[in-house]
Amino acid sequence: MSEAAILTAKELKRDFVHATERVTVLSGIDLSLKRGERVALVGPSGSGKSTLLSVLGALDADYQGSVRIHDVELRELTDARRAELRNRTLGFVFQAYNLLAHLTVLENVLLPARFRAGRLDLTRAKEVIHSVGLADKLSRKPATLSGGERQRVAIARALFHQPELVLCDEPTGNLDAETGAEILALFDRLSTSGVALLIATHDDAIAERAHRTLRLHHGRLA
Ligand SMILES: Nc1ncnc2c1ncn2[C@@H]1O[C@H](COP(=O)(O)OP(=O)(O)OP(=O)(O)O)[C@@H](O)[C@H]1O
Ligand SMILES: [Mg+2]
Repeated sequence: MSEAAILTAKELKRDFVHATERVTVLSGIDLSLKRGERVALVGPSGSGKSTLLSVLGALDADYQGSVRIHDVELRELTDARRAELRNRTLGFVFQAYNLLAHLTVLENVLLPARFRAGRLDLTRAKEVIHSVGLADKLSRKPATLSGGERQRVAIARALFHQPELVLCDEPTGNLDAETGAEILALFDRLSTSGVALLIATHDDAIAERAHRTLRLHHGRLA
């Protein structure tokens, strides 16, 4: 097992331009994530957690400083190569679940596979749906699921390609304590199996169960 970091950020900066004003959201972030690490990212609303996850998740390459996944600088990749690396290495659980309403649970989980060559891997899709406890709801549409069940579909979709690193944005937001606890147990199992997890959250229970907690404040981590 290699101890090399999956992801490394150094002096990462991100600003946005609003009309004539430049707003700095991330002003110098240093972090690294290793295999099997479960890390919580906390900070007030608007502190830049989602912005940071987008850059680390190779969805936003408009940053300064360095962000490397296995020594590959994300900004230096073409859009197509960045998408390929994202598909191969990363899973993303978004703040709003981003499930497609007209597709079933099974079809939503198979969605990322549609963008790749080769046959749809039904066996793998059913396996990840089973692992989040929804084996009996394969052909349900999102509107007929609870919030926690929808969030678990989003997690199953992120796990489909066996990512090395999963980035989660508020995965237990709006969930009751019991469903939140199921998702926490799922995260424990994932990191035990070697997946690295970075979880942006306002939920103290996640921070308590994480190996470490990063606090985002004024654009920097503490
Ligand atoms: N695409 C964008 N263009 C301009 N400003 C943006 C953009 N995305 C985020 N911001 C700004 O960056 C700041 C941080 O937003 P972000 O969504 O990262 O916060 P957050 O920590 O995830 O908050 P929350 O806990 O509410 O989800 C906010 O002030 C927001 O307005
Ligand atoms: Mg956010």
